Amino acid sequence: MEQQNRPIGVFDSGVGGISVLKELVSLMPQEHYIYYGDSRNAPYGGKTLEEVRALTEEKVLHLLRQNVKAVVIACNTATSADVSILRQRYPDIPIIGIEPALKPAVLSASCPRVLVMATPMTIREEKFRHLMEQYQGQAQIYPLACPGIAEFVERGELQGERLQELLERLLAPYFDMEINAVVLGCTHYPFVRETIASVLPDRVQFYDGGSGVARETKRRLAGMGMLRIGDEKGTVEFENSLDDPRVLSLCCQLLNSK
Ligand code: DGL
Repeated sequence: MEQQNRPIGVFDSGVGGISVLKELVSLMPQEHYIYYGDSRNAPYGGKTLEEVRALTEEKVLHLLRQNVKAVVIACNTATSADVSILRQRYPDIPIIGIEPALKPAVLSASCPRVLVMATPMTIREEKFRHLMEQYQGQAQIYPLACPGIAEFVERGELQGERLQELLERLLAPYFDMEINAVVLGCTHYPFVRETIASVLPDRVQFYDGGSGVARETKRRLAGMGMLRIGDEKGTVEFENSLDDPRVLSLCCQLLNSK
């Protein structure tokens, strides 16, 4: 196989990383993709560091065995736990991770109030603490661990009373804080952005890291002369650790959602 025709591997704890896959496909439609979701073990956000590392390494190896030309870790939690270890282990292959899109949110206004929603692990890990330190002087930053939201997306429950109740409970302490920007620091959350928006004041702006990851992936592949050439559209193949047709149909639904 021509080197440029090799697929790009995309990995997440479940179906959330499809929000990143959408950005990749929209920026590089001619590429082939293999998306692996570990829905059997989702959510990762409440597991221990060791558990997330072991699962991530196993799934990334599974993608590498399929001769992918790059790996996108479309999961903030797995990125914060493992991306530096993976890069050391596989120095010859681009491994692109994702982190909460704090920078554009902070730069959106002068000293904005920024709420960062992410999994308990992402919020707790050193990677996020470093990121936060970088912008601390330029904004009021409120990190918020959001256990439970990813599970709704895994079930394909993207709206409704039960989700609304959970969001109201998580977000109630911030209702009077004049939040300007919300960072969706988990790749599952863009799929419930409208429901999140419905419980927050109108003026709030949302930020997520998906398009930045797509641009970075393209830049890395272009730098190595590894972009697939031509106008022919590429393919998207879904793999999931839950061998359940309902998960695969949810994957297609999420990829085709607006
Ligand atoms: N999609 C993952 C992320 O971006 C996390 C969801 C989970 O807890 O598994 O952090």
